[in-house]
This record gives sequence, structure tokens and C-alpha cells, in this order.
Amino acid sequence: MKHIIGNVDEFPLGVGRIVEVAGREIGVYHLAEGFFAVLNICPHMHAPVCRGQLGGTYLPSKPYEMEYGLRGRVLRCPWHGWEFDVVTGQSLFGIDKRRLKSFAVDVVDGQVVLEAAPIAAAS
Ligand code: FES
Repeated sequence: MKHIIGNVDEFPLGVGRIVEVAGREIGVYHLAEGFFAVLNICPHMHAPVCRGQLGGTYLPSKPYEMEYGLRGRVLRCPWHGWEFDVVTGQSLFGIDKRRLKSFAVDVVDGQVVLEAAPIAAAS
């Protein structure tokens, strides 16, 4: 089921916003890559993950090198610091396969439309 959650200009680039759709809190992120939405429940211990900060992270790199990347698309859970890629929903620690539950988001005639049915379930 599709839900209109607002006009595009209500979702500034690089900022997340929590909306309530069908009784669920969903974080909606307007990134350079497009719009993305994830359930506001961390798959680790069910914290309100979308209240965490959005930023980047250190990527796997060669010894003695530090490479920072994924700028603006990494959501850090406020409880224990797990990091998730908002674009894919995947956990970035590499030690756990659980992921954020993602929802499809589209822009139609300047309005942001969210598909309430989950497209990727937590595992
Ligand atoms: S509840 Fe999110 S990292 Fe623990």
C-alpha cells in the first residue's frame, strides 16, 4: 500500500526524518543517491535506530591506511553503535547478517510516496 508522506521540499538533502505510517515509525532519508526508508527498530536490541546520527564510516583498507567512506549514508544506532548502510539496510560491522527493514520510496509529482509493505525483512 502506498502512502504520501509529504512534499520533496519537506525532506532536505542529507537529513533523516521519522514519519509514522500504518502504525509504524519509519525513518526517511533524502540522500544524494535518492530517497530511502527504514523501520525505526534496530535489529540488534530494538532501539529507535533512526534517532541515531547519519554519517560515514571507516572502510576495510590496507594495513596502516585508513579510508573513510559512505559519507552521509551510515546510520549509527544510539544504543550500542552498530552501523547500518541506509541505502542497503546492511549492518556494516561484518559480524552480523541482521539488517534494517527497508521500504520502497518514490517521488511522484513532487510528493514523496512510501510503500508500506516491507521489501527486505530482518533476518
Ligand atoms: S540496539 Fe542498536 S546497536 Fe544495540
